[in-house]
Amino acid sequence: MMPPEDDIDRIMAVMQAAFDPAYGEAWTRRQVEDALLVGRSHYRIAEVLGEPAGFTLSRHGFEEEELLLIAVSPDFRRRRIGEQLLQDCKADARLRGAKQLLLEMRSDNPAVHLYRRNGFVQIGTRKNYYRAPSGDRLDAITFACPL
Ligand SMILES: CC(C)(COP(=O)(O)OP(=O)(O)OC[C@H]1O[C@@H](n2cnc3c(N)ncnc32)[C@H](O)[C@@H]1OP(=O)(O)O)[C@@H](O)C(=O)NCCC(=O)NCCS
Repeated sequence: MMPPEDDIDRIMAVMQAAFDPAYGEAWTRRQVEDALLVGRSHYRIAEVLGEPAGFTLSRHGFEEEELLLIAVSPDFRRRRIGEQLLQDCKADARLRGAKQLLLEMRSDNPAVHLYRRNGFVQIGTRKNYYRAPSGDRLDAITFACPL
């Protein structure tokens, strides 16, 4: 079932503020709606004083959940909102029966520090998977966190 339009609006407000356009990693509204139409996709929104500050979007599979996106608006960063969202996503995934949470990120993304300090370990690399603004290719790193 599609979530309320309001929630999509709040996700998109964070999406547009949080992702560096140079990498083209932000999803379109259509992509978010399509993901959420699939019953296995889940989201959480963090708010500060009624304003959307961050969100996660994940997809449940058999005994695994994939964190598709995590984002916090620049105005609200380094206040542990991302960490709280990650912990909530882990708890939700565990309740849905997942044994591990997986994610993939561009190798130069500083989000790596957040993941490492929250129990994620590197389990794979996809060589030259992303393109940097300079045109160079960057690896994708796959992380897993046991739940
Ligand atoms: C990654 C992101 C979600 C982190 O959100 P956040 O709310 O700022 O993170 P937190 O405040 O919870 O960080 C907790 C800890 O993780 C580490 N950390 C988080 N962001 C960091 C950064 N940019 N550089 C270094 N360490 C970082 C720090 O140890 C931090 O604790 P500290 O502030 O006490 O040092 C946010 O920077 C973001 O939205 N980035 C753009 C979108 C993105 O690339 N998402 C990930 C790929 S889908």
